[in-house]
Amino acid sequence: MGKEAASAFGRWFALNDFPVNVALKAVCDLSEQVLSWYKMIPTVDLLTSDYKELLARADIDIVYVALPHNLHKEYYLEVLDAGKDLLAEKPFGIDLAAALEIQDAAERMGRFVRCSSEMPFLPGPQRVISEIQSGNLGEIIEIKAGFLHSSDLDPAKPINWKRQNKFCGEIGVMGDLGMHVLHVPLRLGWKPTQVHAQLQKIITERPDGKGGTAVCDTWNNASLHTEVDMAGNRVPMTLEMKRMAAGETNTWYIEVLGTKGGVRYSTKDTKTLWTFKCADEQVWQRMDLGFKGMVFPTITGGIFEPGFPDCFMQMLAAYVAEREGVLKDKFGCVTPEEAVASHYIFDAALSSFANNTVEKINYRTLNEEIRNK
Ligand SMILES: NC(=O)c1ccc[n+]([C@@H]2O[C@H](COP(=O)([O-])OP(=O)(O)OC[C@H]3O[C@@H](n4cnc5c(N)ncnc54)[C@H](O)[C@@H]3O)[C@@H](O)[C@H]2O)c1
Repeated sequence: MGKEAASAFGRWFALNDFPVNVALKAVCDLSEQVLSWYKMIPTVDLLTSDYKELLARADIDIVYVALPHNLHKEYYLEVLDAGKDLLAEKPFGIDLAAALEIQDAAERMGRFVRCSSEMPFLPGPQRVISEIQSGNLGEIIEIKAGFLHSSDLDPAKPINWKRQNKFCGEIGVMGDLGMHVLHVPLRLGWKPTQVHAQLQKIITERPDGKGGTAVCDTWNNASLHTEVDMAGNRVPMTLEMKRMAAGETNTWYIEVLGTKGGVRYSTKDTKTLWTFKCADEQVWQRMDLGFKGMVFPTITGGIFEPGFPDCFMQMLAAYVAEREGVLKDKFGCVTPEEAVASHYIFDAALSSFANNTVEKINYRTLNEEIRNK
């Protein structure tokens, strides 16, 4: 993901009239091979395997940290302590306790902190949000959202840190994909009040890459059946996070249905927005979207279709714009509060599956959780 960020900064000029310039100045990684890739970037003048060297640099304002989940808390806290602002990666700490500590430190120190989730910056999700906010849907009947991968269906795929609880976290696939799924619902104020979770460990052993096998103990798939309170209505919201979804390489989707209309978007069909109208006749209508619908205008023509590097760049632009106070009413990155809320949901999901219960989700404020202890 560090390389992905570097690629976005490298074509910052593609953003039209963007008020803030950025330059990638320094990179830290333990791997010499990874570090040497960054040698081709002219603005980078520090490549190091010692992150303290990077944090000591006075000319660095923002640090993007893309590390295995077990390292999030320690490194995020050090970045904040060093006086830097932070673009964190999801899941924003390996568990709820870590996420709360990071949120607490950011607030105490007054740093600007946001968490990564890029898919909602595509034109499709943006139109989904505006359709919902327009009131065109009437009373909301149900919400479905998900993020689906499939490469884990290959039993010969070697183990990596994301497939081991001690590095990825007890929340498994929820930590990997869940923040992406919840970004839009949480931004719309749809904070589920309860959850019934189905969690699956399907392939429990994988090649260790050294000729042997290793235990794969993370949840592969999660289906969270939640409920959102909308003006007294108990609205079902189903959230899918799967590493084993047949044929889905990186499919992010959302569908919201109401009494008067509906809206549906999936990255599987990147430029297509589906809208539903319920009148004399019931009609699903398909529309092509292009760069015209991007959050931040770019030099790319309005009819051309965007992809992953584009929404990643838009997310970085949103981070920088919000930090500078120029985001205005545009869509912003995941806030620490939203990241912590996602952890409350995942935490309740773990209890729900362990006990086969419907769990209430008890969101608490920082004061209740940490400062009043
Ligand atoms: N936003 C997204 O779409 C997206 C996609 C994939 C991963 N992620 C998130 O990004 C983070 C990293 O995931 P990834 O897929 O890039 O992992 P990765 O394993 O590909 O990369 C992690 C890098 O960290 C380096 N590293 C490990 N320990 C280190 C240390 N102590 N100091 C310095 N460098 C160290 C490794 O050498 C490696 O290059 C995770 O939080 C993951 O959930 C986000």
